[in-house]
Amino acid sequence: MLSSADVAAYHRDGFHFPVPILTPAEAAAYRARLEAVEAAQGGPLKAEMRHKPHLLFPWLNELVRHPRILDAVEDLLGPDLLCWSSTFFIKEAADRGFVSWHQDATYWGLSAPDVTTVWLALTQANRANGCMKFVAGTHARQVGHRDTFDPDNLLTRGQELEVTVDESEAVLAELAPGEASLHHVMLFHGSEPNRSDDRRIGFAIRYIPTHIRQIAGARDSATLVRGEDRYGHFDPEPAPSADLAPEALALHAAIMERQQRVLYRGTDRDRFRD
Ligand code: NI
Repeated sequence: MLSSADVAAYHRDGFHFPVPILTPAEAAAYRARLEAVEAAQGGPLKAEMRHKPHLLFPWLNELVRHPRILDAVEDLLGPDLLCWSSTFFIKEAADRGFVSWHQDATYWGLSAPDVTTVWLALTQANRANGCMKFVAGTHARQVGHRDTFDPDNLLTRGQELEVTVDESEAVLAELAPGEASLHHVMLFHGSEPNRSDDRRIGFAIRYIPTHIRQIAGARDSATLVRGEDRYGHFDPEPAPSADLAPEALALHAAIMERQQRVLYRGTDRDRFRD
């Protein structure tokens, strides 16, 4: 799926894009399914439902197994792949929500930085609506972070880098609907508010090779999406049988509680914010 130049760019810069995954029509169909769920629930997805929704909706469980995505990730991480998590990053039209500069590895509790995020655009992602921005080559070392809990910050803790980023070095990850970017778990990245008059919808999917472990103290779970898991470091996750099936909701709630304990460890918070 990726050329050797693409793979080399990922290792050198810590990111690569665009990777064509869905057609614009397929991306629009996913957006429509999401918006049908939101309409049925009477508003945007609640915070907990934006995390790991592939355990609640069969069509998202299919999406995290999309062969074009897995082919690209296999080129980076090898043939035995777990989907560790997924998150909808939705910015409403004229939304103040932003993402401060951060490194994902800071709080995820994973044993090694062999973690790739596939950020799939279900709408246009561009400068006007607050696409992701990266700083090339920053994935080589972990730096310190501080928690801000800024209410407009879309991150769990409002965490931000303790070092200052030179905005002129930022690379904008502009994507067409159906395209994805790939980024390394230690890459400096963030995004600006949505100043456009339409929603910006991204679906971020995090993949790890099966040898990775959760080392933040809690037992963790993941979805085997390709190859074989010879390690068993993560509890396997069943695919949901139907949208919001009762047994899937119960499992998802238990997993969210555990994941929130990992993500908020060392703070006085314990819940995702709406
Ligand atoms: Ni991030």
